[in-house]
Amino acid sequence: MGVSAKIAPSMLSSDFANLASEARRMLDCGADWLHMDIMDGHFVPNLTLGAPVIKSLGKHTKAYLDCHLMVTNPLDYVEPLGDAGASGFTFHVEVTRENWPELVKKIKSKGMRPGVALRPGTPIEEVYPLVEGENPVEMVLVMTVEPGFGGQKFMPEMMEKVRVLRAKFPSLDIEVDGGLGPSTIDTAASAGANCIVAGSSVFGSPEPAQVILHMRKSVEDVQNSS
Ligand code: DX5
Ligand code: ZN
Repeated sequence: MGVSAKIAPSMLSSDFANLASEARRMLDCGADWLHMDIMDGHFVPNLTLGAPVIKSLGKHTKAYLDCHLMVTNPLDYVEPLGDAGASGFTFHVEVTRENWPELVKKIKSKGMRPGVALRPGTPIEEVYPLVEGENPVEMVLVMTVEPGFGGQKFMPEMMEKVRVLRAKFPSLDIEVDGGLGPSTIDTAASAGANCIVAGSSVFGSPEPAQVILHMRKSVEDVQNSS
């Protein structure tokens, strides 16, 4: 498998009042990416952060900012987030059934890496055209909880989506998000996920570096055995 493990602590579980030091702490603990959950209070019943916060954080770190857009109008966010220094821009397929080709083009033109996410109730087939098109997304995020809040229970039944996606696209970045931690990572890794988002399991641990290492090892073990 030609994909590498990316462990992305979800900053939604961090102390927002100390975002820069929390980011530094995660990178020191071995994080590859910082997962930034952007919510608009409409697509999901929660409101978090936007381009101004990404811009502020970017002044403190050069880390890859993996932005997950839980918003109804992702197109409106491309320019501000690109200008703010976001690295990845992952939008939800449920709100972009018509305009995704335009959206992907714009994301790339702003120097960001496009990804597509899907809610637990959305069939995996819906993302195929976005991965197979002539201007494809570079990552698929399979939600393993209903988007909106950290600290929810992992949905193992979502692993079938990861399995079929991995079988179809061996070199695609496949991210999982929601309820990941030491007790669920093996299930996700063996299904074929290589980008792992984890909020409460990392920030809630007295040893975040151990949790990150454990998850990385789990992904790498699966890759070395395949
Ligand atoms: C939920 C967010 C997640 C969340 C994950 O809508 O997309 O990134 O922060 O948190 P945990 O790992 O606690 O489920
Ligand atoms: Zn997320």
